[in-house]
Amino acid sequence: MVVPSITFNDGNKMPMFGLGTYLSKPGEVAEAVKYAIEVGYRHIDTAFFYENEKEIGEAIREKINDGTIKREDIFVTTKLWNNSHKEHEVVPACKLSLKNLGLDYIDLYLIHWPIAFKSGDALTPRDASGKIEFDDTDYLETWRGMEKCKGQNLVRSIGVSNFNAEQLARLLSQAKIKPVNNQVEITLNLNQKSLVEFCKKNEITVTGFSPLGRPGNRYGIKNLWDEPIIQSLANKYNKTPANIACRFILQSGVSPIPKSVTKSRIKENFDIFDFNLTPEELQEIEKLNTGSRVAPFSEGKESKYYPF
Ligand SMILES: NC(=O)c1ccc[n+]([C@@H]2O[C@H](COP(=O)([O-])OP(=O)(O)OC[C@H]3O[C@@H](n4cnc5c(N)ncnc54)[C@H](OP(=O)(O)O)[C@@H]3O)[C@@H](O)[C@H]2O)c1
Repeated sequence: MVVPSITFNDGNKMPMFGLGTYLSKPGEVAEAVKYAIEVGYRHIDTAFFYENEKEIGEAIREKINDGTIKREDIFVTTKLWNNSHKEHEVVPACKLSLKNLGLDYIDLYLIHWPIAFKSGDALTPRDASGKIEFDDTDYLETWRGMEKCKGQNLVRSIGVSNFNAEQLARLLSQAKIKPVNNQVEITLNLNQKSLVEFCKKNEITVTGFSPLGRPGNRYGIKNLWDEPIIQSLANKYNKTPANIACRFILQSGVSPIPKSVTKSRIKENFDIFDFNLTPEELQEIEKLNTGSRVAPFSEGKESKYYPF
C-alpha cells in the first residue's frame, strides 16, 4: 500500500499518514519504528523534546541498511524545542537533532511551539517556586533561524506547530520562506475546521496530532470508542474506531500521525486506505466537535505567545 502524499508550497512531498512517537520510550521506540516501516509507514514524527531521536534514527538507518527502504523513501519530521528560540540557537539545535538522528538531512523541521523558554540545557526551566521560566523571544526571530537551517541544506522543509491563524498570518507577512506545514491537535473533539481552512488558503499543509484523542487522557475527555456514531461506522466498514478517526482526519485533507508502540495497533492504525466515509458521515462526525483539547499546555498561558 502506497500512502498518498501532499505537496508542500516548496515542492517537496509528505506522506499523509505517519507514526507519532511522543512518550514512545527508548527501549520500545526502535522496535515500533522498524515494525511500522515493515508494515508500510513512510513518515515518522519525533521532536528534540521527546528525547528519542537517537533510537529512532538508529531504527531508520537499520531499515535503510537492510534494504527495506532508501533514505528518500522515508519522511522524518523533528522539532525545535522552546529552550532554543533565539536566532543564533536554531542552527546548532538543528545540527544536534541531525546528530541524534544520524541522518544527513531532516525532511521537515518545525518550531514546536510559538512559546519560548529561557535558553539553556533544561528542557523545561523552572524557578524556585516551580513556575516555568519563559522568555520573550518572538517566534519571528526564531523563524529567521529556521530559514538558515533550510539555507544550509540541513533540512528540506520548514514549518511550525501549535500556531493559531493570527500567528500564522503574522509569520506569513514577514517570512522570506513560507512555512509549509502547521502541526496541530486534531481529534474528533477538536476538528479545527477554520484553522485548517485558513492553512489551505495560505498553502500551508496541516498535520493532525493526537488523532486518536490520546485514549485514557488525563483530562477525562470522552474516548472516541464510546461514541455510538464511531462504533456504528466501524461496524459498517469493518474497521476500528481508531481507523474511523484517522480516515475522517485524512478526508479533511489533514495528515494524521497516530502514536503506538504496540505492534497490533501500529498495523491496525495503518488500515485506512481502502474505504471512504460519505459526505453525510463526515457531517455526522463533525457534530462530535466540542473544542476540548488533550494538549492545552495550560502552563503556557503565562507566555504572551500562548496560542489557544
Ligand atoms: N506538535 C505537538 O505539540 C504534538 C503534541 C502531541 C503529539 N504530537 C505528535 O502526535 C503524535 C500522536 O499524538 P499522541 O501520541 O498525543 O496521541 P494519539 O496518537 O491520539 O494516542 C496515542 C495513544 O493511543 C494508544 N493507541 C494507539 N493506537 C491505538 C488503537 N488502535 N487502539 C487503542 N489505543 C491505541 C497508544 O497506546 P500504545 O502506544 O501503548 O499502543 C497511546 O497511548 C505524538 O506521538 C507526537 O508524535 C505532537
